Amino acid sequence: MRAAPGYLARVTAPIVAIDGPAGAGKSTVARQLARRLGFTIIDTGAIYRSVALAAQRAGVSWDDDPGLARLLDAGLGLTFRGERVLLRGEDVTEAIRTPEISRGASVVSARPVVRQKLLQLQRDLGRAAPRGAVLEGRDIGTVVFPDADVKFFLTASDEARAQRRHAELAEKGLSVPLPEVLADQRRRDKDDTERAIAPLRAAADAVVVDTTGFDLEQVVERCFREASQRLKHLISGQP
Ligand code: DC
Repeated sequence: MRAAPGYLARVTAPIVAIDGPAGAGKSTVARQLARRLGFTIIDTGAIYRSVALAAQRAGVSWDDDPGLARLLDAGLGLTFRGERVLLRGEDVTEAIRTPEISRGASVVSARPVVRQKLLQLQRDLGRAAPRGAVLEGRDIGTVVFPDADVKFFLTASDEARAQRRHAELAEKGLSVPLPEVLADQRRRDKDDTERAIAPLRAAADAVVVDTTGFDLEQVVERCFREASQRLKHLISGQP
């Protein structure tokens, strides 16, 4: 446990981990939870996406380990400004969300060299948050911050997740048939859960929240109550 109960002051601000598969509602819940707690939100998927974009721009293949290592060693130049993502000062928030970069992010995130080199960056970003951080990803509670103060693992049925994704795409004016969204999601789930390094799984001490059939506002409320309760206990040192 990271907390020092009683009169001992905490050295670092609290860390909340939110993991889970695509479409379980992580982004919405993480963002709203961070806002309500007054914490910094760190979208770690955006970091993998930025690596894919930076590699593409530098002419480095997404599976070129030495090339990716050089790119990361030179420094990505990644900064978060609120919910905007800047790469060497350029706002790439939208550019990292294209289907092509989603594919690239999936490839680079399976490369051990990339995961290893991004570990420190994610830890530094989390620890630098002045009041606390909510980190959203796949391996936050298991690998990046195994000692996080609160861990949530959001899940939902395949169909519910595909329907959310389908609705999101429709909102952007993209009409992709639901069976296609579902098939693509199953492929990504398989890649995420079966990869050798940092596979997607719930930490043993994570609060598992099944969001199937729930409005995400209700999920935010539940997570907020749980997090407030746990953080209060950790900081005050009360039983
Ligand atoms: O959550 P997202 O779709 O923005 O994530 C982009 C890709 O990065 C996706 O293929 C999963 C991967 N990822 C990861 O492997 N580990 C994380 N902590 C976050 C994302």
